[in-house]
Amino acid sequence: MSDRTGIFAGEDPFAIARSWLAEAEDTETNDPNAIALSTVDTNGMPNVRMVLLKDIEDDGFVFFTNYGSVKASEIDATGRAAFVLHWKSLRRQIRVRGIVRREDGEKADTYYRSRSLKSRLGAWASRQSQPLSSRTALMAEVAKVTAQQGTDPARPEFWGGYHIAPLEIEFWADGAFRLHDRFRWTRDEVGTDWHVVRLNP
Ligand SMILES: Cc1cc2nc3c(=O)[nH]c(=O)nc-3n(C[C@H](O)[C@H](O)[C@H](O)COP(=O)(O)O)c2cc1C
Repeated sequence: MSDRTGIFAGEDPFAIARSWLAEAEDTETNDPNAIALSTVDTNGMPNVRMVLLKDIEDDGFVFFTNYGSVKASEIDATGRAAFVLHWKSLRRQIRVRGIVRREDGEKADTYYRSRSLKSRLGAWASRQSQPLSSRTALMAEVAKVTAQQGTDPARPEFWGGYHIAPLEIEFWADGAFRLHDRFRWTRDEVGTDWHVVRLNP
């Protein structure tokens, strides 16, 4: 008999994640969709940085970045990533571990087009994670791509999304006296049934 009720109720973890994020949009000061995204390098050394979660689809989580970045090379090499969402205002977190593929088709084009022109040109100008001699050099690159690309730049091939299909999602909510509630959803493969277990805090 499950006691998964209230904010943990439901049979679709993506719906629960969407609902928690919607609550955080009302309570969090900045960037309620900021996730700490974790990858590993070829030596197994972990790496982590913030990115913005841009969509919770029916079977995965999507963010956008530069395909020449460190995170992209680590994801492309392993096909795996993990992330955590933490909302101080709600005292809740969601942890996700999963299988990653590029989201570099129509969806990436649509999202790219939705960004401000300056952001679209900025994506063209930045060789993310590569050394940069000065801020002036970056601004010169922005001026150059602005002249080249005009007011309706196409999405650069080196910029797009990643889709994380989770094999594990854990929902955590603060409880009195550190007796927090935790429910871990796991599945053996993408597309198979979820198994849910309550965990000790
Ligand atoms: C709140 C926040 C949101 C960010 N969002 C993104 C993002 O959506 N995409 C991105 O590529 N970098 C984003 N960044 C910058 C990354 O943290 C990081 O500096 C950059 O992507 C390079 O990471 P890498 O060298 O590990 O690839 C964000 C940083 C912060 C602090």
